[in-house]
Amino acid sequence: MQNKFHWYDGLFYDKAIAPNQDGTFAIMRAMMKANSTIIDVGTGTGRFVFQAAAKYKTVVGIDLSSRNINFANSELKKNNIPNISFLHANALEIKSHFPDKFDYSTISYVIHEMPFEMRINVLKTLKEISNEIIIGDYFVPQPKNKRGFSNRIAEFLAGFDHFNNYLNFVKHNGIYGLVEQLGLQIIQEKIGVHGTSHIVRVK
Ligand SMILES: C[S@@+](CC[C@H](N)C(=O)[O-])C[C@H]1O[C@@H](n2cnc3c(N)ncnc32)[C@H](O)[C@@H]1O
Repeated sequence: MQNKFHWYDGLFYDKAIAPNQDGTFAIMRAMMKANSTIIDVGTGTGRFVFQAAAKYKTVVGIDLSSRNINFANSELKKNNIPNISFLHANALEIKSHFPDKFDYSTISYVIHEMPFEMRINVLKTLKEISNEIIIGDYFVPQPKNKRGFSNRIAEFLAGFDHFNNYLNFVKHNGIYGLVEQLGLQIIQEKIGVHGTSHIVRVK
């Protein structure tokens, strides 16, 4: 797959959706040592990368949506931040772009929208290119409250394939299922601010 397109990519994602992830982003930052090197996979419009720039040595954001990456690059052009960069790429193919290992790879709200095989292979790739992986995503099962319900509605509205992949992610027990399947070790875990997500640091 060479490009990914959602109706909400670009400006709408950046202004209306990404800010909802700030609580998750703060927890992710708190899990990583200052001055480290980071790759943020499925960075969207790069909100996490911009927020992390001041604390870390280098932060690279990659995404398969050209609209999201173009938006991130146009924001970067307006602000000269030399230690961050963005690349339009498929998470499955990033190994060839980055020969040196990162201290951390981060991946937030990405794996639930991937098909089962891709989810597994992307995490295998992240294991090869970084010392530790920080995964932020929906808690499975979602709480039976207003927030849990509205998350399910949002996943439904994201499109047929996206919703089917989300259902498959739930069926396979979310992050815990992946950790078990890939034989990863959980080093640290935090529940997200609304109790509907969790952030898991693994190696
Ligand atoms: C819901 S957004 C999350 C963006 C950001 N990480 C955040 O937490 O706000 C999911 C992003 O993953 C990207 N994505 C999905 N599959 C991908 C793949 N195979 N390679 C790279 N990016 C991918 C999508 O294009 C989208 O921008």
